[in-house]
Amino acid sequence: MNIAVFASHGGSDLQAIIDGCKNQQIEAKVAVVISNNGDSMALQRANNEKIPAYHLSAKKFGSEESLAEEILSVLTEYKVDMIFLAGYMRMLHVSILEKYHNRIFNIHPALLPKFGGKGMYGMNVHTAVIDAKETETGVTIHRVSAEYDSGEIVAQTTVPVLEGDTPEILAARVLEREHSFLVEVIADIVDGKIALG
Ligand code: GRF
Repeated sequence: MNIAVFASHGGSDLQAIIDGCKNQQIEAKVAVVISNNGDSMALQRANNEKIPAYHLSAKKFGSEESLAEEILSVLTEYKVDMIFLAGYMRMLHVSILEKYHNRIFNIHPALLPKFGGKGMYGMNVHTAVIDAKETETGVTIHRVSAEYDSGEIVAQTTVPVLEGDTPEILAARVLEREHSFLVEVIADIVDGKIALG
């Protein structure tokens, strides 16, 4: 199975997926990496691993439609079966959502449907969790639909919120869990335990 990973920033989730494929916990390969951010660590990580990597942004292609066409042609070129959004900060165009219906997944650093939706990304999520005095947060992997963080949830795991946590401390604990959870869940998708559409 060929996986495309989309990532905008650090790419530590991307790295976890690459490592999971390399050590065969996931019987698939990261065929291509796409980022909207030319300076992202994610693109550097892909280069380090000799994985084809593309900086594709609406700015570069003039419109959302031409960006989507370009993304679709890259996905076709690498015979992509499944797309994983690992910290990708853009909404995907409807043409991509339709072509890869049920085959696009996102990871969110909280227990959706709580703490999701527009503006709920990065430290905003962890700050909101702490402000709400939650004792538990977690990680959600869900299918991607046309609305932020609202597609079918396919897997969740919990992470404790501890007394004295700052958003930064909590973010680090959640991110660490993401790295192992991603590998478990993608392996289940590849093995057919979680169905592709
Ligand atoms: C993760 O917290 C993920 O849940 C969210 O974006 C972050 C990506 O981190 N969607 P990184 O860029 O992979 O380090």
